[in-house]
Amino acid sequence: MAVAVLSPTNLLKPRTERVIAALDVGTSRVAALIAMADGDNAPRVIGAGVRACNGVRRGLVADMERTETAIRAAMMQAEKAAGLQIESVLVNLSAGGLRSEIASVEIDIAGHRIAEDDMAALLAAGRQRIDGDIARAGRSTLHAEPTLYTVDGLDGVTNPRGFHADRLAVDIHVLTAATPPCRNLDLAVRNAHLGVESIVASGVACSAAVLNDEERELGVALVEIGAGITTVAVHGGGMLAGLASIAMGSGDITADIAATFATRRAAAERLKTLNGAATSSPRDNHDMIEVPPLDPDDGQEPRRVPRAELIAVIRARLDLLFGEVSDALNDLGFTGIAGRQVVITGGGAELRGLADFAQGALNRTVRIGRPRGLVGLPEAQAGAGFSTLAGLILHGSVSRVDLARNAIHLPGTTPEARTGLGRLFAMLKKQI
Ligand SMILES: Nc1ncnc2c1ncn2[C@@H]1O[C@H](COP(=O)(O)OP(=O)(O)OP(=O)(O)O)[C@@H](O)[C@H]1O
Ligand SMILES: [Mg+2]
Repeated sequence: MAVAVLSPTNLLKPRTERVIAALDVGTSRVAALIAMADGDNAPRVIGAGVRACNGVRRGLVADMERTETAIRAAMMQAEKAAGLQIESVLVNLSAGGLRSEIASVEIDIAGHRIAEDDMAALLAAGRQRIDGDIARAGRSTLHAEPTLYTVDGLDGVTNPRGFHADRLAVDIHVLTAATPPCRNLDLAVRNAHLGVESIVASGVACSAAVLNDEERELGVALVEIGAGITTVAVHGGGMLAGLASIAMGSGDITADIAATFATRRAAAERLKTLNGAATSSPRDNHDMIEVPPLDPDDGQEPRRVPRAELIAVIRARLDLLFGEVSDALNDLGFTGIAGRQVVITGGGAELRGLADFAQGALNRTVRIGRPRGLVGLPEAQAGAGFSTLAGLILHGSVSRVDLARNAIHLPGTTPEARTGLGRLFAMLKKQI
């Protein structure tokens, strides 16, 4: 949807703004964001919505109905604030065997100057390669972005147009996932009467909102701790170099607290966020906290336990989690001088003292990353748990060559579900 806007700074040159809508389908909740973007300035948030959801397990859609209900509710809240109806969204995928690799393709130029036709032929060869190899392996391509070119063996060329050459090659950065998780996510969104513009790997979206160019150039690892999944995205030389997903998250800390102190999950969640921490101090042995009984109607009194006991349970799970993060970083080659800086985000990063804990556990420099780059992000969506959501908008606001565009097709998708009117009809039908 394009809207011409006139403001005092651009009175001479009307700019076109586009609506971008994003959905973060997470293990603990679904969040929606709507923004206006003109391609030059920071996108402007005009609506946001959040709905708790227990239809997603470890980042994968496990209950279609619950997930689509939460998607609909979160998006309707955002649409109400924005005052418009959304037709299609960018949505994230954080699990499902995400893999990042480089595919190289080469064509013959026969000594002439490289022209647009050659560039188009090279990208067509790239698309053919991706459609062939990856589709044959039964995987779906989320992104396939041409990166650096090689002209007659000279690599690292950013723009080869105009060069005389015999051979022209390009490295294509390809991100793939197992097909069933993509289809299930696609289906959940479409069942909520929204079209899927593109499925973006969480690590890619999150990086767009949290990392700066210098970090990406020098080398940085982004660790997003969600409720059920922790994703690791390693960058170097300005590019994403590798991805890993760990099936553990902050929800496991909650589950451990609930099991250890025999209390309900909701009470354990409150203990974690209000009284919990990743670092301890001698005072924690004297600070007593109240643990509500499992069944409050049973006449049982709340128990009082030293805060140190709560922190011990939290740290035991964090030891396990950061052991896996450390292994993933080493497996991805995030070592040496370029492997020193780690940024932690996701709702789990909001735990008190987490940066200090992580710094010790990983023996690297750690900062907590929160979303930036958007104007007007509401306070409730400004925390580390909303980095991926903000990143989806930023990812969608930049135009790029993506050879995987429209790579995800779902058989049986009704064309009218993609239009605003079709969506309205579909919703009415569902209510009858
Ligand atoms: N202040 C806080 N202290 C500790 N933990 C917190 C805090 N705020 C949020 N969390 C935890 O963060 C988790 C939610 O994070 P997030 O919203 O990033 O996950 P998600 O996207 O729903 O799940 P996933 O990405 O794993 O599918 C919950 O487990 C929640 O308890
Ligand atoms: Mg998440």
